[in-house]
Amino acid sequence: MITTPIAHRATAVAARAADLSKEYGQGETRVIALDHVTVNFHQGEYTAIMGPSGSGKSTLMHCVAGLDTFSGGSVRIGDTELGSLKDKQLTRLRRDKIGFIFQAFNLLPTLTALENITLPMDIAGRRPDKKWLREVIDMVGLSDRLGHRPAQLSGGQQLGVPPGP
Ligand SMILES: Nc1ncnc2c1ncn2[C@@H]1O[C@H](COP(=O)(O)OP(=O)(O)OP(=O)(O)O)[C@@H](O)[C@H]1O
Ligand SMILES: [Mg+2]
Repeated sequence: MITTPIAHRATAVAARAADLSKEYGQGETRVIALDHVTVNFHQGEYTAIMGPSGSGKSTLMHCVAGLDTFSGGSVRIGDTELGSLKDKQLTRLRRDKIGFIFQAFNLLPTLTALENITLPMDIAGRRPDKKWLREVIDMVGLSDRLGHRPAQLSGGQQLGVPPGP
């Protein structure tokens, strides 16, 4: 797996993995998926993680986003060390600070497009800002598809990819 070397940059570090290790299984089925990985993700930048199949990209993403536990090292999002958080605090941090687009969409098939969009906020018991909601929906070109279920949307629409010109 290739990760960018740590160099001094002008922007702050939004997320950081330090000496991060992750093992799956035990004994003969033990796999070292991450072997002391250190990487900084800077604010306002795109970072691409590249590497062969099985090299640990998804594992790294899951650990840095607080979606999975790790075996050694540390992960920080902003000023928060994930290792120090209890389950509830971790849930809150994921809800408020992290957006994650999975390769498999994880849309709920029985909910409409609109209900899928607002689901995390519904679970959190919050109401989305109507103006912002409309803006985001327009941005990804879904305004005339809000009552449709995921199976009635194209692959790009399910992903939330903005339509072309
Ligand atoms: N739940 C799991 N249990 C056991 N081993 C796992 C598990 N998930 C991943 N692995 C193993 O950990 C290693 C890293 O897997 P990971 O999914 O992070 O790779 P990847 O770089 O995302 O690969 P791909 O490009 O194919 O998506 C692989 O050897 C994989 O078989
Ligand atoms: Mg993967």
